[in-house]
Amino acid sequence: PILIVDFGSQVTQLIARRVREAGVYSEIAPFSSAAEAFARLDPAGVILSGSPASVLDSDGPQIPDVILNSGRPMLGICYGQQALTHQLGGEVLAGESGEFGRAFIEIEETCALFDGLWQVGERHQVWMSHGDKVTRLAEGFRPVAASAGAPFAVIANDAKRIYAMQFHPEVVHTPDGAKLLKNFVRHVCGLTGDWTMAEFRKTKIEEIRQQVGNGRVICGLSGGVDSAVAAVLIHEAIGEQLTCVFVDHGLMRSGEAEQVVSLFRGAYNIPLVHVDASTLFLKGLEGVSDPEAKRKFIGKTFIDVFEDEAKKIGGAEFLAQGTLYPDVIESVSFTGGPSVTIKSHHNVGGLPERMNMKLVEPLRELFKDEVRELGRELGLPEVFVGRHPFPGPGLAIRIPGEVTRERCDVLRKADAIYLEEIRNAGLYDAIWQAFAVLLPVKTVGVMGDGRTYDNVCALRAVTSTDGMTADIYPFDAHFLSSVATRIINEVKGINRVVYDYTSKPPGTIEWE
Ligand code: XMP
Repeated sequence: PILIVDFGSQVTQLIARRVREAGVYSEIAPFSSAAEAFARLDPAGVILSGSPASVLDSDGPQIPDVILNSGRPMLGICYGQQALTHQLGGEVLAGESGEFGRAFIEIEETCALFDGLWQVGERHQVWMSHGDKVTRLAEGFRPVAASAGAPFAVIANDAKRIYAMQFHPEVVHTPDGAKLLKNFVRHVCGLTGDWTMAEFRKTKIEEIRQQVGNGRVICGLSGGVDSAVAAVLIHEAIGEQLTCVFVDHGLMRSGEAEQVVSLFRGAYNIPLVHVDASTLFLKGLEGVSDPEAKRKFIGKTFIDVFEDEAKKIGGAEFLAQGTLYPDVIESVSFTGGPSVTIKSHHNVGGLPERMNMKLVEPLRELFKDEVRELGRELGLPEVFVGRHPFPGPGLAIRIPGEVTRERCDVLRKADAIYLEEIRNAGLYDAIWQAFAVLLPVKTVGVMGDGRTYDNVCALRAVTSTDGMTADIYPFDAHFLSSVATRIINEVKGINRVVYDYTSKPPGTIEWE
């Protein structure tokens, strides 16, 4: 395997992801426990991440000596490069300006990282984000590429098989970055690249068995891909020790609840408790129009219902969740303060504390598309695996203002038409998420020879890789107008349709 030492960069998980894409298993360890991880894993190579810290600070994190002196191949990225240089006797200084964003490097010499990829004299785009920079190399290193702001953009010590770069190869804005990382793990570290999702499945099943022992696990299904994949994986690991609970809050899309129930009970034969709590949720939402109040009420009520069901099955020591990497805020933090709450994402994170349960989260290190791949590996049907994400609070946050059963029904119909048209046009998989929003705004229209005075429906469709940033999907006007016509003709209560042209940021994907 490869050991990735995390110095607290925002993008350390992307390094792990690129290594997985190169068919190699890796583990991430925070720098503070990297020495133990190194001893346990006996890795073929080590990658040192970036960091918001500075090696010039007295408390800047260090590469543990056992790793530094191990003789194993190493790759330092950004802070990793500076730490290597600093600790091996070179010099790092605070840059006066720094480089942030797109930069170009010129290849000056060949090295193992560039095999089959970059030639001397070429210029390549990379993504930089640094203030400090290396100003004198440690002994045994030579520069192999330079940028305008960093004369030592890539450095190599061939004898010791240590390489380092000032830029970030793990991000997509370094177009050849994934290949550089692949060259490191395959050519420099000599790993064969035979690790696959099938291996991940096996490893995780073993880990789940170890963690759970004879304990009972309860898993909340949301109807989405993540919790379904987690549940199927855990069921494969521990069978009957798992109980799934599907809390139907009445805020699901058309046909959604039925699909989940039939998938679990039918195709997988996994015991599933289906709770119809729609009345409870919709009653509680009466008169509530503030977005955060809606989210909090739904989150809390979800926990109440879930807790009741857990008691009925006689309790469980473990709670399984389909938490993905982008949901995990943990990592090593140097900034101290919590990030600003834009919106309170619904999850069952409040549960373990209240119910005194331990968490089983087998998908914690994966990104959405990797979870889909694992779902396919587990045999989940493509229509399910490929589904657009759907938020826990459901349609409630797509109905600004008060949520009622009637408004949910109107929105469900419009949403179903929109998605059917998207599927028919073959666009579903090109879009990260598409949905309709029902606005609490009435406008005047004319239908037949009569006046109408009805609600506005907004359509949203975005592309994204992780939901953190998003761009609007550029439908052609023809497509949008035919969807609008269908919705207005077929859904009573809507007489006008608009399209949302806001990217994220500044907008969020959901409207609330
Ligand atoms: P926003 O609206 O924050 O959404 O740009 C980003 C992604 O997260 C989904 N989302 C949620 N998912 N519980 C969830 O499970 C939530 O409370 C929640 N809020 C937003 C949203 O659908 C999009 O994919």
